[in-house]
Parts: sequence; C-alpha cells; structure tokens
Amino acid sequence: MPEKWTPANWRGKPIRQVPDYPDSQALREVETLLGRYPPLVFAGEARRLKAALADVAQGKGFLLQGGDCAESFAEFHPDNIRDTFRVLLQMAVVLTYGAACPVVKVGRLAGQFAKPRSSDTESQDGVTLPAYRGDMINAMEFSPEARAADPQRLVQAHNQAAATLNLLRAFAQGGYADLHKVHQWNLSFVADSPAGARYQDIANRLDETLAFMAACGVTSETTPQIRETDFFTSHEALLLNYEQAMTRVDSTTGEWYDTSAHLLWIGDRTRDPHGAHVEFLRGIGNPVGLKVGPTADADGLMRLIDILDPANDPGRLTLIVRMGADRIEGLLPPLVRRLRREGRQVVWACDPMHGNTVKSASGFKTRHFDRILAEVQAFFAIHRAEGSHAGGVHFEMTGQDVTECVGGAQAITEAHLGARYHTHCDPRLNAKQALELAFLLAEMLKEARTQRRDRAAAGS
Ligand code: PEP
Ligand code: CO
Repeated sequence: MPEKWTPANWRGKPIRQVPDYPDSQALREVETLLGRYPPLVFAGEARRLKAALADVAQGKGFLLQGGDCAESFAEFHPDNIRDTFRVLLQMAVVLTYGAACPVVKVGRLAGQFAKPRSSDTESQDGVTLPAYRGDMINAMEFSPEARAADPQRLVQAHNQAAATLNLLRAFAQGGYADLHKVHQWNLSFVADSPAGARYQDIANRLDETLAFMAACGVTSETTPQIRETDFFTSHEALLLNYEQAMTRVDSTTGEWYDTSAHLLWIGDRTRDPHGAHVEFLRGIGNPVGLKVGPTADADGLMRLIDILDPANDPGRLTLIVRMGADRIEGLLPPLVRRLRREGRQVVWACDPMHGNTVKSASGFKTRHFDRILAEVQAFFAIHRAEGSHAGGVHFEMTGQDVTECVGGAQAITEAHLGARYHTHCDPRLNAKQALELAFLLAEMLKEARTQRRDRAAAGS
C-alpha cells in the first residue's frame, strides 16, 4: 500500500532541480502567505478538463497545449497574453474545422515560471554563479544579487498568474472567442503569409457555415459553444514549495487539488518514481502530465503510471513524449505496445520541441521547423501502425513575430536568429510557424480519422 498522502510528503523524498534559498525563514513566510491567497483555479474546472481529456484518451478529441517555454516578468503585457491566446484559437479552429475533431485547449501559461537546468551553476569569465532557474526563482542577469533565489518572486509570479488568468477567462468567455470573430484573430504579420491566407479561407467558409446555422436558428445567443470556449492553464510543477502552498481541499469532494493551474506536469528530469515530484503529483486530483524522454523504458514508465494513475482513470494522465525526431521511431513503439497490452488509457501527446534543440553556428539555441514536423509525423505514423490514438501536441510557441526557430514557409535562417530572439529559455515557434504546423496537423488528423473509419468498417 502506498503511504498516506499529504501535500507536504514530498519534503521527505529525494529531490532534483531545487534552488538554494539563502533565507529559509523568508521562504517559509512566503509559503504561509500564499497558502492564504485565493485559489487560481477551481477543482470543478480541473475536473472539467479531466473529462475532456478522458474523451481524448478514448480517441474522441485532440489536445492542443502550447505557450512560452518560460513566462517572464519583463514580458508581462496584455498584448502578449492576447496574442498567444489568439494563435491558439486560430490553431484550434484549423484543427476543428479541418479535421472535424473537438480540440481541448490548454495554455502553457499563467504559472510557467520555473525551469529545470542541466547545470546548477553557470560560469562566465572565471566567475561561477547559480544558474538562472526562471523568474519565479531568480533573475537572468549575471550577478550574485540577481542569481540569488528570492522568495518574494513566488508572490510576484502568483500575482502575474492571477492577472493573466483573469484576462484569459475574460477572453474565453467574454466575447473575444466568439466564432464570429475568427477573422479578427489573424494577426497582421501573419495575414500576409501562406498560412495566414489559408486561415482566411477557413474563416470565410466558417462565416458561411455560421450564416447557414443562424438561418436554422443556431446563433451565439442560443448556443454558448459558438460564443465562448473552454481554455485551461498548465505548467511544470517544478517548484514544489509554491505548488504545495497552492494546494487545497476541494469542499465538494474532499480531495486535494493544486489550485495553481488546471493541469500540472512532471518534467523529464524530475520523473524519479521515488522522488519528490512524483510523490507530490500522485496525490492531487488535477489531471497530470508526464514528460517521457529518450531514457524512459517500458518497465520504468509502467511503474510511474501505476503511481500516478493507479485507477487507470481516463483523462487523469497525459504522456508528453519528447524523444527527438531521430529517436522516436526506435523508442516510442515499444512504449505504445506495452501500454496497449496492459489496457492503459492515457492521452498520448507529442512534444516535438525538447528533443530537437540544437545550437546554431552563431551560438543561439534553436530548433528546425523540419525536425519538429518530422517528429510529429513520426508520432502520428507510430500511433497509426499500433492502432492507438495520437491524442495531442505540446508546443513552445508565442503570438509574437520572433525569430527563434529556423525554417517554415517564412524560411527563417540561422542568420536571422539574432533579429528578434527574445525567449527567456528555449526557442519558440512564432505565430506563422505555429499556424503552419496546425494546417499540417489537421491533415494528419484527418488521415488518421479516415483510417480509423475504414478499419471500423472493415471490422463490422
Ligand atoms: C519544458 O517543457 O520546458 C521542459 C523543460 O521540458 P522537458 O522536461 O521535457 O525537458
Ligand atoms: Co522548454
């Protein structure tokens, strides 16, 4: 029997990727303060997401998860939130309209502030300082003051997450996401690209469909699904001091929920089955994600699934596979086969970003659009071959016109990277690249659906 869970249990377990707080008393005071703050999300909303993900696990939907690698205090601006939101809406329309598939929209947003690092320290010109771990922990500037972990940053991150979520809720429910507004979601710098033009075409056809439906009496007034959308938040549950402080008992079910976001995930570096992160996430009622990188084997993965989703509850667990385009074909099929054999119902999502990061000749961390696409294509092909559902994607992306990933129709080259390279951590797809990928994905989804239908017909 697993030991009884409490939100503080993780403190007795081995932990990786922890910042060293010089003032532990100040950290405790902040934890107490945050423990009294209002929740950012409600348990009922997390359950609603779980129900939507249960449909995805059963092949009846698709998960679109995306946003910044790391949110930052400096880039906190309503336009940035709006632009990421509208690109996600555009992508969702392309997928829903292009592939007739319900799309579950989840932002990497309103809490994505803590980053795992490959080294605890960074050295420059003979000076060694703690690594930058995300704005929730320390600052990027290379000085001893900036790099010291400061607990007050947890409060600032919480405030920013609250304000971000407030705006997202207003956008999702207050009219901005009304399907009659699809034309307005096309950002001006995207509109002149091939993907922008294709989007315009879908928007026009959608207008005609909406006019037809209105003539039949189905309008924004009669049908909330036309007027508003569900939009959920997620982040990596890395800084457990923060996550514990945000964890509350839900009065309707008596269960614990981490109210910092709807979905929390465990990163590839912290998925030790005996470790603190797995211990914390196993006890919360939220849907949870698990990054599955190239070192994962089938036995190890089954062990983690038994801990995180012992009841085999569809929607509870999303496996976010990030193997790299070169390795996915060798590594993923045995995992998919094993889960199928064991009758496990999970959402399989593809993160084609984190296994495809390279350094450009000029020293920028970048990702090639072609490699990102190749991993997504391989992911779909593997699931098709195994008779399993390719359930979603997980992108690092922004609504801004950045130059961080190379390639795509816009043909950003390595020489362009310096022009608008703004990320606080990993390189993101810009809005054009993200939309272009959505069109390619819609085709893959359509093909997968046709194949499922043919198989079902052949079997009946
Ligand atoms: C991330 O999602 O930003 C991340 C660090 O991913 P991973 O845990 O897969 O390396
Ligand atoms: Co990242």
